[in-house]
Amino acid sequence: MADMDRIMEIARRHDLFVVEDCAHAHGQRWRDQGAGCIGDFGSFSHQSTKILTAGEGGTLTTQDEALARRAHSLIDCGRPKDAAETEYTFGANYRLGELACALLVNGLHRFPAQQELRSRPCPVCGQPIASHAFEETNGNVIMECPTDERLPEPLANGPLNEFGMPATGRRLEKYEERQAREEAEREAREEAEAERA
Ligand SMILES: Cc1ncc(COP(=O)(O)O)c(C=O)c1O
Repeated sequence: MADMDRIMEIARRHDLFVVEDCAHAHGQRWRDQGAGCIGDFGSFSHQSTKILTAGEGGTLTTQDEALARRAHSLIDCGRPKDAAETEYTFGANYRLGELACALLVNGLHRFPAQQELRSRPCPVCGQPIASHAFEETNGNVIMECPTDERLPEPLANGPLNEFGMPATGRRLEKYEERQAREEAEREAREEAEAERA
């Protein structure tokens, strides 16, 4: 994350509001605070490339009730949040659809476990898995470690992907598969050495 101590100090000095761009920062922390909780607003993206996605949409966070009401009015055609409210503004329809909201609610339940997974160390280089290309399906982690010097599968003889196209040559391997393969390679080496001796 950005140096939020420094940003908040500059903002306070110049009497500025801070909107944290947390588009990709779901679950990140600065010292003891979560991303999006430090500035006046935090803005998270849920567009399709983000780690908590609903295809499109976003979440705005704030701890200031007046700002929350103003933001609510902005996304809802300028209407007040509560009918009795007299403070409202011009706005547009930036409301997130209910289907996207349902996806996000579900995604939020899965998010803590996914976050824990991302922070686990890579068994090859020890860096957090989040720094690698990885996919997770039903608890299986398929990943690529950039420090792994073994060559990718040759393109010409490589497998076809699910669209029947030649795979890119980027080798993604399940943890368990990698461990089993390394174990088999080690055993084969030991057997060959024993035969030579
Ligand atoms: C740093 C940053 N801010 C904002 C955005 C925009 O998010 P959205 O697509 O939800 O408008 C992105 C999207 O990639 C981003 O990376």
